[in-house]
Order: sequence, then structure tokens, then C-alpha cells
Amino acid sequence: MPKLDLIVRGGLVVGPGWTAEADIGISDGKIAQVGYIPYNSAEKTVNAKGKIVIPGGIDPHTHYELYFMGAKPRETWDVGTIASAIGGTTTTIDFAPQEKGETLLNATMKQLDRASQLSVIDFTTKPIISDFSDTERVMRGMKDTMDLGVPGFKVFMIYRHQGWMADDWSLFQVMRRARELGGIVTIHAENGFIGEGLQEEFVRMGKIEPRYHGEAKPNMVENLAITLVMSIAEITGARTYIVHQSTREGPDIVAPYRNRGLPVFLETCTHYLVLTDETFDPPERGIYYMCSPPLRKKEDVEALWQALFTGKIQTVGSDHVAFTKAQKEEFAGVFTKIPNGFPGSEVRVPLTYYEGVVRRGMSLNRFVEVVSTNAAKIFGLYPRKGVIAPGSDADLVLIDPDKEHSLDAKDLHMGTDLSVYEGMKIKGWPSMTILRGDIIVEDEEFHGRPGMGRFVKATINEHVLQSVR
Ligand code: URP
Ligand code: ZN
Ligand code: ZN
Repeated sequence: MPKLDLIVRGGLVVGPGWTAEADIGISDGKIAQVGYIPYNSAEKTVNAKGKIVIPGGIDPHTHYELYFMGAKPRETWDVGTIASAIGGTTTTIDFAPQEKGETLLNATMKQLDRASQLSVIDFTTKPIISDFSDTERVMRGMKDTMDLGVPGFKVFMIYRHQGWMADDWSLFQVMRRARELGGIVTIHAENGFIGEGLQEEFVRMGKIEPRYHGEAKPNMVENLAITLVMSIAEITGARTYIVHQSTREGPDIVAPYRNRGLPVFLETCTHYLVLTDETFDPPERGIYYMCSPPLRKKEDVEALWQALFTGKIQTVGSDHVAFTKAQKEEFAGVFTKIPNGFPGSEVRVPLTYYEGVVRRGMSLNRFVEVVSTNAAKIFGLYPRKGVIAPGSDADLVLIDPDKEHSLDAKDLHMGTDLSVYEGMKIKGWPSMTILRGDIIVEDEEFHGRPGMGRFVKATINEHVLQSVR
């Protein structure tokens, strides 16, 4: 038997397709053994009795240090990823915005460089394609970043003022090229012409309070965009991933395409699973609740849960952007100007556990699929990430099912004083986070160091992709 560095003993292990009390032996940062380990030849043993042991969470959607709508979070990569690790995430998939005139490769490398210096968890990225002035350059850039081990791309169908909005032809070309190269296109699906047209109309009518955010971008704005994307996915055959699904109708628009075998996937985010547009009033509170797509109705929340249970939605992301209260307040006069986005990377895993497993009876296996395994499979990180199996990276999270935790900003570790879950209490919180065999968090104390996170090269595997449920 090889000498083990660490044994995680006796936890309720959530493996691929099974859940059982088991020991996990770790050697050289990898999982060496799963099952019953009768001997005790490890340097160190962790007693996991009474804990739920899951593969480290994979956040498919974060924006550390993103400059967006005139603001940049104060939170840096190290602070943000420490909070992610405390909340049970060991790998993050971020986004690299392309500046006008910049190559995709440069944008990607800049971000990987920054993350390499500061991230405490493993990471990859996706370039945000925003300069479509030279299509040939975009097509070449996609190949260059894929050669780097980054097979995902991001396109926005809205945010004209940010300079990110892609027209339909550009979107089509990117998807067709992704199909050719074997990449995957991640899409922010809101119809920019109608959504931003309505927003401008509301402002002209003097309807400038946060309560109009949802009315200016109603469900149909998102549904229309999803419908178009599905048609292009069908024509091109491109692997397609729609982020932050918020409407009750969206999963049913996508389901027939998935049922026909197209590689199309849906993500929702923790906030769409918990919060509603009731947060928009009074306006003093509403300013903190501006995100896109907007928060919806209670009926949408429950429909999204159903879609997660039934496999119509495959992942839960955080869409983490750690704006502070002051940053939201600075732009408070007109709702369309308030920087969109919520801090959420730390609460993604525990909140999905509490709302899904504890309150709604989701199985532990499904919970693990939506917070970890499916993201690894879709974005080419599997089986190195997202599964407890011999040969995989020893990224593990021990959840204490009895631990109660407040979601007030003062009790969280993200680099912001804003929590959109202020006043909420949940049960079930990570007691330990292990990254490649190193215990980096124990009882919310961080023991690692900035820069210990590694870039994970990705390759999407067709068989693995087909196994996503
Ligand atoms: O409101 C959001 N989602 N802000 C971040 C940018 C994006 O659209 O993902
Ligand atoms: Zn978005
Ligand atoms: Zn986002």
C-alpha cells in the first residue's frame, strides 16, 4: 500500500452515483483510495464522522475584480477566493473581459496571470468576446485560447453601454467557430434591443426607482434571447451554456433541444433560487438588489427549483461581483445606472445545500452534481475535478449539517459590506476545505496562502458531456 499523506475517515461521502460512509486516502494531492482503509499509515487523519464529504465546489460563474458599469469591486482575487474556499468552493471559472483592440489571447493571459498571483483556489477563465470589428481576428483568437487549455467563451446579448453587446451575426459566427474547434459558448441571454429600449423608455417617463427594474426587463426579454440562442445552437451544433437563468419559462424552452441530444446547458444562480422582486421596495433597499437578469417572482423561484430537481437546469453559479453598499449607493439616482451584480461566491454551496437538501429534500447526489460535478463535466475539468474517485484531485469539502450560520455581511468573508441575504440564517456549513490534499480552511480559518491556486487546463470530452444530467 502506498504511504498516504492524509486520511479523511468515516464521513458520509457523496461519490459518483452513491452516498456511503467511507474513508478517503490522499497521496500527493490526489485521491488514492476510497472505501474502507483498515490501516493507519497516514501522516495525518481527519475525523469526518457526522460530516458530509463532497467534492470541492466548482463555481461556474464568478467575476473577481471586474470593472463593470462604472465600478470595480474593492475585493481582490485573494480575499474573494478565500471567502469562496470558506464557503466550500475549490475551483472557480471566471471571465476575462476583452478590451477593444485586444486579442482574446492577451485578455485571457492577463487574467490567468492575475489569478496565478493571488487566487487561493484553482481556477480557469473564459474570455468575454466584445470586439467584433475584425471577425477573422476573433476566430483566430478563439483557436489561440483553446490551445492554451481554455475552451470556453463568453458572449453578451446585452450591455450596449458597456461595449459588450454582440449582434446576432457575431453570436452566430462565434457559435459556429466554437463548434468547429470543440469549444463551448457561454451566453448572457437577454434581448438587448428590447431590454435596453424598455429601460430607456422607463427613464424617459421618470420611472427611475428600483421597482421598475423587473418591469423594464420582464421574463420575455430573457425568453426571447434564449429562444434565439437555441435556434443558433441547433443550426450550428455548438456546445452552448446559458448563464444565470431566472425565468420560469426558460428551462422549458431549452428542454426540447436537450431532449433531442443537443449539447445545451443551463445555469441558475443562488439568488434566483432564494430572492424575489419584493426586494425592490422600498427604494432605499431596492438599490442593493439590482442584478441582471432581474430577480423575479415567487413562481419563478419554485419553477427553477423544479428544473434543478428534474435535470432541466444543470448547475448553480454565484455570478459573484462583490460591489459594496457605497458603490451601489453612488449610482442610486436612476435604477439603470446602479452597478448590477451580487456578492455570492461564499454562500453558493451552503445556501444550495440548505434550500435544496434541507428544505426541499434534494438528494445529496443531485446537490453535488449542481454545485460541482456538472460544471466540471461541461467545462472540461472532469474527472480531475468534481468527483471523489481515485486519481482525481483531492479537493474535498466537509459539511457540518448541524452548524447554523447567519448570512449577514458581518458573518461572511467576502470583500464587501453587502449581503443580499441579510437577516437569513441557514443550517449546514463547511467545517473544512481541502485543496489538492492541503487543508486550506478549518472552521472558517484560512490556512493557505495567496497564489496557491493553480490554473487548470481544460479539454471538453464528448462522452463526459453526454453524461451531464
Ligand atoms: O448582474 C449581473 N449579473 N452582473 C454581472 C455581469 C453579468 O451579467 O454577469
Ligand atoms: Zn450576465
Ligand atoms: Zn456574470
